[in-house]
Amino acid sequence: MGTNGVLQVTDSRTGCSYELPITDGAIRAIDLRQVKVSEDDFGLLCYDPAFLNTASCRSAITFIDGDKGILRYRGYPIEELAGHASFLDVAYLLLHGELPGKEESEAWTREITHHTFVHENVKKFIDGFHHDAHPMGILVSTVAALSTFYPEAKAVADQAIQRDQMVRLIAKMPTLAAFAYRHAMGLPYAYPDDELSYAGNFLNMMWKMTEPRYSPDPVLEHALDALFILHADHEQNCSTSAMRVVGSSQVDPYSAAAAAAAALYGPLHGGANEQVLRMLQEIGSVDNIPAYIARAKRGELRLMGFGHRVYKNFDPRATIIKEIADSVFAVTGRNPLLDIALELERIALADEYFISHKLYPNVDFYSGIIYQAMGFPVSMFPVLFAIGRMPGWLAQWHESAADPEQKIARPRQIYVGEGLRHLNGTIS
Ligand code: SDX
Repeated sequence: MGTNGVLQVTDSRTGCSYELPITDGAIRAIDLRQVKVSEDDFGLLCYDPAFLNTASCRSAITFIDGDKGILRYRGYPIEELAGHASFLDVAYLLLHGELPGKEESEAWTREITHHTFVHENVKKFIDGFHHDAHPMGILVSTVAALSTFYPEAKAVADQAIQRDQMVRLIAKMPTLAAFAYRHAMGLPYAYPDDELSYAGNFLNMMWKMTEPRYSPDPVLEHALDALFILHADHEQNCSTSAMRVVGSSQVDPYSAAAAAAAALYGPLHGGANEQVLRMLQEIGSVDNIPAYIARAKRGELRLMGFGHRVYKNFDPRATIIKEIADSVFAVTGRNPLLDIALELERIALADEYFISHKLYPNVDFYSGIIYQAMGFPVSMFPVLFAIGRMPGWLAQWHESAADPEQKIARPRQIYVGEGLRHLNGTIS
């Protein structure tokens, strides 16, 4: 079926007919404005709360087919990238459109590694948070704070300057994340070790104690690198849309990334992996699963880690994460919550409510179980998601800034409020 053609519409209010061009399976919303009931009519709007059926952009970065469970970064299937490419090479792919060659990869890794330190004043900023401050609250704040250390980032049209900022953001996310954790634990900050890989260095900054040099477990290092890849981009999800919308005001990328991280923090989005663990802990035993599922079916709660706006079949990332779990548990020991998760998935996928609502495990359903087995506290789970998603946010922001069709985002509304009225002494 061709994705181009013409949509013929007739307005029953006037009897007028219109031809709307169809391009790539879409009509341009602005073409609806010609549909009027009078000359001074503003023209027809399309009303789409939560943008269920609205394409906000044309993008060449990530392709998802929700019915077929397909996810590709720049055309490469996620199954081929996860566990075979490195996270930094996938970040390079998202940003540049091609995987780096050997020399490019080595230069890119050196460049990222060179920027893992943060200004010492950032520590003072983090020290101001309560010991029990949620690390996502610290991360959102410190990412925004980076904009004050690099004022040149306001030159959003300068490609060389913006490349430096994107390198800094990818490089510093693990440092900010680990510093947030160390602050919460009352531990001294562990500085980056340039001899380690991206994931290995993050584990170093998280777990290093009195040993002269931290040596990451290679299985856990590889598993974390693969998990970062699985989270690297996901087309126009809530946080990426926030990155694009906030970035459309031509604010610096640190401020836009802080807005994206704030959106990711929500329990319906990147905060879901934290909620999945809390849900599994609340269920506590496989015996309690039927009653919990019954509550979800009554609408009393949501089965966290289930469902997706796009995937109406399995989330390919969930499938890969289940495979990664086996390698992690071989090192850490099996997480008993896995048994509850597997039984919950088995029962839910056989239940008519979940089948009819096309609710399958998503990327968040199993990731938290692995993170917990690796020793991360539940509150760090969305922070790990944010580390992985940073290259995707930046690639989407960069693509939007270069798109000649884009301008500052400013949706319309349908006003349903009061008509004109006057004070007439109402205020005494
Ligand atoms: C991520 O967009 C992305 O790409 C996101 C992400 C990415 O990589 O960026 O993939 C990452 O955010 C994954 C999703 C993590 N969130 C959760 O696991 C939270 C639980 N899931 C949901 O809240 C929900 O499924 C969403 C938010 C993920 C999707 O919501 P939709 O598409 O807006 O669907 P909906 O809320 O309109 O629900 C449709 C129906 C409703 O029932 P009815 O009112 O029509 O009878 O399905 C029900 C919902 O009640 N439903 C669920 C459910 N999810 C939807 N019922 C029980 N448990 C659930 N998890």
